[in-house]
Amino acid sequence: MSEKRREINPAEIENQRRICREIFARNAQKSTSPLACVDTYGCQQNEADSEILRGFLRDMGYGFTENEYEADLILVNTCAVREHAEMRILGNVGALNHTKKAKPGQIIVLCGCMAQQAHMPGRIKKSFPIVDLVFGPFDLWRFPELLLERLDGGKRVFAKSGGEGVLAEDLPTARQSPCKAWLSIMYGCDNFCSYCVVPHVRGRERSRGKPQILADARALVADGVKDITLLGQNVNSYGKDLGAGETFPALLREISAVPGDFLIRFITSHPKDAGEELFRAMAESEKCARHLHLPVQAGNDRVLRAMNRGYTAAEYLEKIRRLRELMPDLVLTTDIIVGFPGETEAEFEDTLRLVAEARFDAMFTFLYSKRPGTPAANLPDPASRAEKQQRFDRLLALANGISAEKHAAYIGKTLRVLVDGDGAGRTNGGRLVRFTGDAAVGEFAEVKITGSTTWSLEGETV
Ligand code: 5AD
Ligand code: SF4
Repeated sequence: MSEKRREINPAEIENQRRICREIFARNAQKSTSPLACVDTYGCQQNEADSEILRGFLRDMGYGFTENEYEADLILVNTCAVREHAEMRILGNVGALNHTKKAKPGQIIVLCGCMAQQAHMPGRIKKSFPIVDLVFGPFDLWRFPELLLERLDGGKRVFAKSGGEGVLAEDLPTARQSPCKAWLSIMYGCDNFCSYCVVPHVRGRERSRGKPQILADARALVADGVKDITLLGQNVNSYGKDLGAGETFPALLREISAVPGDFLIRFITSHPKDAGEELFRAMAESEKCARHLHLPVQAGNDRVLRAMNRGYTAAEYLEKIRRLRELMPDLVLTTDIIVGFPGETEAEFEDTLRLVAEARFDAMFTFLYSKRPGTPAANLPDPASRAEKQQRFDRLLALANGISAEKHAAYIGKTLRVLVDGDGAGRTNGGRLVRFTGDAAVGEFAEVKITGSTTWSLEGETV
């Protein structure tokens, strides 16, 4: 049976921790600690999920490697948003035949959104005999139990989710960056954009409690994190399901009030729910990064309606006008889908017009991909692949030209950059900067911008 919200009992989480300790004890008896290789595809939620899976693996005594040939366990965390990603993932999983032959006993785990689709476990069972364990996002919290079942049972394990809507607290995490962190504030999506598979694989919206989120934020800051990205499929819906009057703008203000020198960003915001209250909360918070990812998807009203997006192009443009009025230095990024079923040349040109007017700092452009089970999959789609590709290329050229101009405008300015690698960092607005000069990883540095490309800025520390 499917459920909207199923909070996992702390005793069940403790049981997973107990299993981790049990596997840890076994691994401790080996002459060398076993190695795990974690491959992550798709969105930031998947990145965050992989940090939890790594946390479990660490607690089970695994070390980590990027070399699939030396791994005792390979975990592939998959994405189902576009068919192209699915094909690539299945191709890569197929290639693990070689690694498993070279290293008998290697355990191959497939998880994430692809695995949650109803048809997928059967397909894996039949066509990919090398895969040992399959589970979707709803079963992530019980990975240790599932792995133990495979280690002890000998049979391949295909998790049958006990229902959607899972909410699990206090899972271990192994963060990938010392200074940047993901903080999930809600899971799932209720929007059902007609092209999108996410609501079908990640379930209904459920918000985490505010006290837990604030405790996580404080712990991250205490741990030296300087850049926190709040995560949710649609963060603007935060709190609606809690029924206690909680809202995302209010949450943002409370996280901003946590003492410390850090930045807050959030993804993703849905334009239909992003309004004055949110914009003010951003503008009035010094900690809130001047960065908003606001996916518009299309610039034509008929297409937006067919996508079930809930706003018009004019409404979208009015929102970003107001945003820039409040925050003139705001970096605005977006997602656009080209070739939605039935989109005509004239409708596509409306998207070009919107992009020229909005002048996004960066855009993520996608060719429409038909997802089984979504309403758009049943719409007539007369445009040819070549036509769509040609439109895509035109949009990309326009987008890149704007990005390059926007980046060039930084030359001569000195910006505060969070250093997250050797000679690389991110500005408050999330722009990538490559620089020369000394700067400590994990700290802020002042960088004078001396050059730019379509995708990044160049500079030197001052
Ligand atoms: N085809 C192409 N792009 C899609 N996206 C979501 N579903 C599809 C699809 N079926 C894009 C949207 C979304 C981003 C994460 O992926 O632009 O904002
Ligand atoms: Fe998909 Fe729309 Fe939900 Fe985003 S808001 S996850 S595009 S259904």
